[in-house]
Amino acid sequence: MTELFKPYSLGDAKLANRIVMAPMTRSRAPDDVADERTTLYYAQRATAGLIVSEGTPISREGQGHLFNPGIYTDAQVRGWKLTTDSVHAIGGKIFAQFWHVGRVSHTTIQPGGAAPRSASSRVAQGAVAFGYDEDGEPGFLPASEPMPLSTEEVERVVQDFVTAAANAVAAGFDGIEIHAANGYLFEQFLNPLVNDRTDRYSASAENRLRFTLEVVDAIVTKIGASKVGIRISPYGQLFDMPHYPDILKTYEALSAELGQRGIAYIHIMDQTNFSMAPKDAHASEERTLELLRRIKVASGKTSIILAGGMTLDRAKNLVGDGLIDLAAFGQPFISNPDLVRRLEQSLPLATPDRDTYYGGGLNGYADYPPFAPQ
Ligand SMILES: Cc1cc2nc3c(=O)[nH]c(=O)nc-3n(C[C@H](O)[C@H](O)[C@H](O)COP(=O)(O)O)c2cc1C
Repeated sequence: MTELFKPYSLGDAKLANRIVMAPMTRSRAPDDVADERTTLYYAQRATAGLIVSEGTPISREGQGHLFNPGIYTDAQVRGWKLTTDSVHAIGGKIFAQFWHVGRVSHTTIQPGGAAPRSASSRVAQGAVAFGYDEDGEPGFLPASEPMPLSTEEVERVVQDFVTAAANAVAAGFDGIEIHAANGYLFEQFLNPLVNDRTDRYSASAENRLRFTLEVVDAIVTKIGASKVGIRISPYGQLFDMPHYPDILKTYEALSAELGQRGIAYIHIMDQTNFSMAPKDAHASEERTLELLRRIKVASGKTSIILAGGMTLDRAKNLVGDGLIDLAAFGQPFISNPDLVRRLEQSLPLATPDRDTYYGGGLNGYADYPPFAPQ
């Protein structure tokens, strides 16, 4: 008997099932404010046990793409409230994914045309941001050369996260997920081959974790540990993140610290099984299982979510083996708003259209129908 479709307590939140909708940027907010279309899209998917929102920038500085609904202005808070109210009306739960891209941005998006702020002075080679081109038109551009945050500025960024956390609660979110995955600001601190600092956030094993733990602690103090989750992607290589020898040790140490703090969950994004990630020759199922085992042990009672090429069978096996508590699906939720029902009843899944992943209107966004027999 599978546990996947039974209720689950995640922090304070009582989830209807263990299926999570993974965070997915859809770049459809022209003024960076969530609107009625955002609400419709999430409400259609609210039978997920938990929705993690698309990456929501916690400040203008944290933004690397135009048209992402942020969580730092009053209008943005009001915009998100429509979505959270609608998801709750259907019995769903929704966490906001807190996003600061660090160096994966462009001067045309940054306040005052400044350089993107990072842990590092190293350029993210091959990474693209979505800003304004030479003609002032929105377009993809190579990430600009970053300016390392000064030690004092790091404290200011921590406070930006705290303000955003208060905003998220005001907007009705059930909690927040710190986006420490996929090559963005947190990984720029965590990765010793990217972090080129010399201060207390420098590349030594202990110092690399400091920024992440300071943000976690500050948000926990503001809104409570049970409302805080974090997303990580050990072995991820998106946006110029080279592998380093003690990846496993780093994430084991981080997981132990997070476990002690009693946060709601650790969400692992396994890029090995992510169709859009660079292929890694060393990736193997064995490595993923070892990582899950180590994080599970290190983090104690913290709930574990896994995303990346998830299937029903894999979810059942991993939950059954006690290696994860919840299974997250990304792309399947784009084209199957009623994914939970389809999985539970073994109904066929619709294939998403990649061309409409980012930008545009309702097409490829809120017009995928629920399952109907032919
Ligand atoms: C269109 C799209 C947008 C995404 N945006 C985000 C994001 O904002 N934050 C994030 O952490 N991951 C993001 N991801 C990664 C997904 O959360 C998920 O981990 C990934 O798609 C792997 O799961 P899947 O194989 O079930 O799709 C995105 C993926 C897609 C396809």
